[in-house]
Amino acid sequence: MKFIVCENYEEMSKAGAKIIADLLKSKPKCVLGLATGSTPVGMYEELRRMNKAGEITFKDVTTYNLDEYYPLAPDHDQSYRYFMNHNLFDHVDIDKSRTHVPNGLAEDPAAEGAAYDKAVEDAGNVDIQVLGVGQNGHIGFNEPEDALYVGTHLTSLTDNTIEANSRFFASKADVPTKAITMGMGTIMKARKILVLASGKNKHFVIENMLNDRITCHIPSTLLKTHPDVIVICDRAAFEG
Ligand code: GLP
Repeated sequence: MKFIVCENYEEMSKAGAKIIADLLKSKPKCVLGLATGSTPVGMYEELRRMNKAGEITFKDVTTYNLDEYYPLAPDHDQSYRYFMNHNLFDHVDIDKSRTHVPNGLAEDPAAEGAAYDKAVEDAGNVDIQVLGVGQNGHIGFNEPEDALYVGTHLTSLTDNTIEANSRFFASKADVPTKAITMGMGTIMKARKILVLASGKNKHFVIENMLNDRITCHIPSTLLKTHPDVIVICDRAAFEG
């Protein structure tokens, strides 16, 4: 696991965008695993700028997002599909039919999860998986538990996550209590993983990624067993 500590959010976002841009240049038909949350917004902004400037193209790129609230319609303004369209897809030269987000309205979430994992595999697996982290160390929506799931599945959100994400909704009661998320196995299949963490409230997670232990109660620690992880964080997340 490699750590890059940046002075601030802007520097972190640019460093993240450069890693994605380098992949797009060396492998134009790549598969990106994408994340939502406030942390990658700056990186998506930089990628939009680079695309507009003609420095990179998304025209042959395929994407799979980590997760989606359940049940939530794709056109709901807090859905992760809406987030991705708004922050990236609507502004770059990507073929939207090659962008994928779990279906937050799936009638059979277990079947949706299995089909999603198969689609990722059929696409040749993810080249770079972007991850943010929850304050409790969740990745995607793999929340701290005694045992974690391998594949994409329906999960319940912890109160801590509902509280943290309520800032985007009218009230805490409006936050869905469930989500469909890639499982740990789906995430770990990515050839490279890029973790972004910004701010003091992510220090707990960074601290626990720096030591030599892993626990399902801090899911991000499992990333230590992956051979190619880059963590880009700002000084606030690193030093607390
Ligand atoms: C949500 C998403 C995660 C994301 C996390 C952190 O819970 N499911 O993928 O990493 O939020 O969000 P933020 O970047 O806003 O702190």
